[in-house]
Amino acid sequence: MGSCGMLARRALLTDTPVMVQIQELIRGVKDCVSLAQGVVYWQPPKPALQKVQELVWEPSVSRYGADEGLPELREALMKKLRHENKLHKSSVMVTAGANQAFVNIVLTLCDAGDSVIMFAPYYFNSYMSFQMTGVTDILVGPGDPKTLHPDADWLEKTLLDTKPTPKLVTVVNPGNPSGTYIPEPLLQRISDLCRDAGCWLVVDNTYEYFMYDGRKHVCVEGDHIVNLFSFSKAYGMMGWRVGYIAYPSEVEGFAAQLLKVQDNIPICASIISQRLALHSLEMGPEWVTDQVKNLVKNRELLLDALSPLGQDAVKGGEGAIYLWAKLPHQYHDDFEVVRWLARKHGVVLIPGCSSGCPGYVRISFGGLVEDQCRVASERLKRGLQQLVNEGMVP
Ligand SMILES: Cc1ncc(COP(=O)(O)O)c(C=O)c1O
Repeated sequence: MGSCGMLARRALLTDTPVMVQIQELIRGVKDCVSLAQGVVYWQPPKPALQKVQELVWEPSVSRYGADEGLPELREALMKKLRHENKLHKSSVMVTAGANQAFVNIVLTLCDAGDSVIMFAPYYFNSYMSFQMTGVTDILVGPGDPKTLHPDADWLEKTLLDTKPTPKLVTVVNPGNPSGTYIPEPLLQRISDLCRDAGCWLVVDNTYEYFMYDGRKHVCVEGDHIVNLFSFSKAYGMMGWRVGYIAYPSEVEGFAAQLLKVQDNIPICASIISQRLALHSLEMGPEWVTDQVKNLVKNRELLLDALSPLGQDAVKGGEGAIYLWAKLPHQYHDDFEVVRWLARKHGVVLIPGCSSGCPGYVRISFGGLVEDQCRVASERLKRGLQQLVNEGMVP
C-alpha cells in the first residue's frame, strides 16, 4: 500500500521499542559488548532444567492449561507471596512474563482516554503499553533530583488537581531504568495517596531479589494495589516467558475481567515454562540471591567506568541491575552519544530519552560475567574520558 494510512493510529503513535533499535546498532558494529539489555548472565537452576527435559513427552505439556496458570504453580506462588512478600489478600494469575502481566492489567483497569501517572525516568515498555491501548494521557511526575525517588508531593497535588482523577499510578521497585529503591515509608505514602484518591497503584517487582548493601525489598498490599513479578531475571528465565500478577482477592469482578484479557492474549502461559518456573521456585530464594551477589563486583567496575562523568552524575544501583548517569550538559542527544560509544569504543548503553529523560544513559550490569564486564568497563571508561576531554571525535 506504500503508506501508513491503513495502519492503526494506536500502533503508529506508540514509541519505537528502544531495544530493537539498540539490537540493530549492535548488529552494525564489529566486536561490541553490551551494557544495554536488561538481562542476567545466568541460566535457570540446573536441577530444574533437568526435570523439564524429562517432561517434553508428557501430553499435558502440549495441551492448553488453565488460563490462570497451573494449579501447582499458583499454589506455590501463593505460598511465596505470603511468606516472602507478606501479601495475604492477593490472588495469582500466571502470565507470559511481567510485560504481558502489565498489558493485562492496563486492559483490565484502564479505558482509552483515561489519564495515568508514571515517574521519570520511567520503564519504557510500561509507557508503550499505555500508548498502544489508547491510554495516551500519560502524566509523568518528577523524581527527586538527588535520590530519584518519585515526588510524592507532586503526586498528591496532581491526584487532587486532575479531573477526572487519574485511573492508575505505576512504579517499578527497584527501578528500571534507574536501579533506585523506593523505601517502604515512601511506597506506603504513594499507596495511601492512591487509595484516598480512588486510583489504582501498580507496582512492578521484577527485581525484588536484586537488592544491594543490606537493603530489603518490601511490597505493599491493598484493595487498590496490583503487584507484578517476573521469573525472567531472578531465575535466568528471560526466554521462557513467565511472570505473574498478584491482584486483590476481595475486589469483586477483578478476576473475571482479568480472565477475559488473558483468554484473548496467551490463553495460558507456556506449560513447559510454568513447569520450569515451579521447579525453579523449589530451589528457594537463596538460589537467586546467590546469583545476585555476583553482580556487586560488576556494579563496582561500572561505577569506576562512569567516574569521568563526575560523582554527582551517577545515581541508582541500589537495586535491580542498573546505574543511571547524566551525560555532560552539552550532550542532550543521548542517542548520538550511545551510537558514538558503540562505533568508536565498542560498548553499548541505553539512551535516557527512551525513559523520558534525554541527556542521560542507562547502564545494565547484569548481563556479563565479571571478566566480560571488566572489558566493557575499560571500554566505557576510555570512551567517557574521551567524551569529556575531547568530545565525540570521529
Ligand atoms: C521493570 C520490568 N518489568 C518487566 C520486564 C519484563 O519482564 P518479563 O521478561 O517478565 O516480561 C522487565 C524487563 O526488563 C523490567 O525491567
